[in-house]
Amino acid sequence: MAIGIYFGSQTGKTEMVCAKIKSELGDAATDPKDVSEIGGDPSQFTEMDGIICAIPTWNTGEEQNRSGTAWDDLLEKIGELDLKGKPVAICGLGDAAGYADNFVDAMEELHRYFEKAGAKMVGYVSTDGYNFTGSKSVINGKFCGLPVDEDSESEHTDDRVTQWCSQLKSEMGL
Ligand SMILES: Cc1cc2nc3c(=O)[nH]c(=O)nc-3n(C[C@H](O)[C@H](O)[C@H](O)COP(=O)(O)O)c2cc1C
Repeated sequence: MAIGIYFGSQTGKTEMVCAKIKSELGDAATDPKDVSEIGGDPSQFTEMDGIICAIPTWNTGEEQNRSGTAWDDLLEKIGELDLKGKPVAICGLGDAAGYADNFVDAMEELHRYFEKAGAKMVGYVSTDGYNFTGSKSVINGKFCGLPVDEDSESEHTDDRVTQWCSQLKSEMGL
């Protein structure tokens, strides 16, 4: 199995969380790759057995291009890929205290385009234990991925990542 780990990041927190995800998944996953280094072409996603995407939110309250990273320029192209049945999971970095009304909003935007490509979305997480007031990334009562808050709740990061990776091992058949 080759699960590709891809991230966008402005200040390195999302990259750091990807390193934790990689160390949990070991040889089942690739070394995390910055999506600013894939030449604007996401077609390599079709070659992976599954994909884990990590995305921060920087453009607060926006409908489009919420991440403020190279992910924003890939969204339309991701939507045009054929990823039918491929398991895809999303991890979103955000700040529940500083941006409580828009917590990890960018996850939902990425989720929408992968769903359009036919991917099988996995890695949904309960909102229990998160202190926020609004998030576009809550779908049918659950986060459409794993929220990680290195700004206000970093003490929970290790446990959240470990638990999520064990969920992914089961949902992705690793
Ligand atoms: C100007 C600015 C805007 C932000 N907007 C949001 C936001 O709307 N929602 C959110 O959850 N976090 C928001 N954040 C927090 C970042 O998403 C968080 O710091 C994240 O860990 C950054 O990841 P990176 O270091 O990988 O770029 C914002 C931070 C800054 C400085």
